[in-house]
Order: sequence, then structure tokens, then C-alpha cells
Amino acid sequence: MHKNVIFCFSGTGNCLDLAKNVARGLGGADIVMLRKTPAVTDVREAERVGFVFPCYGGGAPEDVLEYARTIRVGKDAYTFAACLCSAYAGTGLYELNKIIPLKYWRVVTHQCSCIWLFPHRLMMPMLSPAMAQARSEKIAGEIAWDVLAMTVSKKSPPNNPVNRAENAAWPLIAKKKIAAFQVSDACISCGQCEKLCPRGNIRMENGRPVFGRDCAQCLGCLQFCPKEAISIGKITDKREHYHNPNVKAADLMQSVIRME
Ligand SMILES: Cc1cc2nc3c(=O)[nH]c(=O)nc-3n(C[C@H](O)[C@H](O)[C@H](O)COP(=O)(O)O)c2cc1C
Repeated sequence: MHKNVIFCFSGTGNCLDLAKNVARGLGGADIVMLRKTPAVTDVREAERVGFVFPCYGGGAPEDVLEYARTIRVGKDAYTFAACLCSAYAGTGLYELNKIIPLKYWRVVTHQCSCIWLFPHRLMMPMLSPAMAQARSEKIAGEIAWDVLAMTVSKKSPPNNPVNRAENAAWPLIAKKKIAAFQVSDACISCGQCEKLCPRGNIRMENGRPVFGRDCAQCLGCLQFCPKEAISIGKITDKREHYHNPNVKAADLMQSVIRME
């Protein structure tokens, strides 16, 4: 195991790209993807342990918190986390901090991956995809610098009651969207969506994806589909699709990514 370990959940690549850039700044790291059952959970040998994940519906994706409960961190390890979001971090960092106390945390805004809700350019501050990416890379460098300097955040992570309420209502909102996944005749039966789904919720039947109900709402299947054949209602057909420019679907399918 590398002395630096970063646990990462990523649907459309913004988090994986940031995790990779932080790893580069640290001089290397093992990035453990939080997919299905993570390949590594005992990191008691690691000196620095980080988490990079998105905000979904005012909180962390439930997978992140569920997996965090199984992760064993050494008592002297330096711990840190970054939450990516389009506008606000919600309560994810706060909840993670309760499970694994964090020495340092950052919020990074980037393009919005939730295109059934907003166009991907709707982020705070409003930046073009290229500018948002450049800013994310710059912040990744700052995070790596802070981690190497063992910086301790002065404030506790945000715990806004409005975001708590939003996150409590989120499973009901997500449930409706989960039931609305469709595939069009543009599907070429490549099976990428089946391999990409972090929960193994998609299976190919007669050359077409069939969507189960155990969906994390990461939208990787929809956003990376080479033929834009997957949709959640008409709105996602109209909107421009988005995934991080530096991340390919195959990158997200790996369980551990060694960065030197
Ligand atoms: C289902 C879903 C819900 C989201 N909810 C929020 C939210 O509540 N607040 C926010 O600022 N961004 C929200 N986002 C935007 C993502 O946090 C943001 O686009 C992030 O960069 C995605 O990271 P990824 O590319 O690694 O998946 C949501 C995205 C998705 C897919």
C-alpha cells in the first residue's frame, strides 16, 4: 500500500480528476474507488488518508458514508477530504467527519453533473467548462500543498439545516428519477454502462441495458454513453451531456489507481 491513500467516489469524473491531481501534488498515492465493495478498507499503514466525493442532494452519496464506516485508518494518520459540488457542499463533509475525524477539508465547485436538474454550466461561480477545470486543477495543487504541510482546518465542516432537510427528502426525489431511466434505439449494445455502474445496477439483456432500482444516481451511464442513448425523461435529451474532460469511462471502472 502507498503511504498516501485517497478514497474516491466519482460519477462523471470531476472527483477522480481532482483526486488524481491531489495525488500528483503529494508525489503519488493509491486512489481507491468507492465502487461496489472497495478493494481496500484497511489503511492503517497509510500516513495520509483522503476522501474525494461529490455532493448529491445536499449530502454525500450514501455509498461514501456506508463505505467510510468500514474503513480502518491509523490513529496517527493525517486525514483530509474534498467535496465537489456545483454550488454548495451540503452536509457530506460534516457526516464523514463524524465517522472519520478530518484534520482538513475543502469544498470545490465544478460543472454540474445532474443534467436532469440543471444544465452542466450552472455552477457557482458561473465558469465555462475550461475555466472550471483550470480552477479545479489549481485548487487540487493547493490541497496537496496544505496536506503536505499538515494544515488543520479552523472551522468544522458545514452543517446547514436547509441542506439537511434537502438531503432527508433526497431519497424520494431520486427514487422517481431512478424509475425514469430509458434507453433509445441509438443504443449500440456496447455494454459500457453495465461495466461502469458503481453498484452493478445495470445488466445487459438481449443487447440492451436493463436498469434496476439500486441506483446511486451518479449518472455515469448517461453522461458517458457514446451514443447518448440513455435518458431520464425528455429533459436529458435536450441538455448537453457532460463528463470531466480528462476522465474516460474506463478510468472509473478501476478499483485501485496507483499514481506515481
Ligand atoms: C444526482 C446528483 C445530485 C447532485 N446534487 C447536488 C447538490 O445538492 N448540490 C450541488 O452543489 N451539486 C450537486 N450535484 C453536482 C455534483 O456534486 C457535481 O457536478 C460534482 O462535480 C460531480 O462529481 P463527479 O463528476 O465526480 O461525479 C449533484 C449531482 C448529481 C449527479
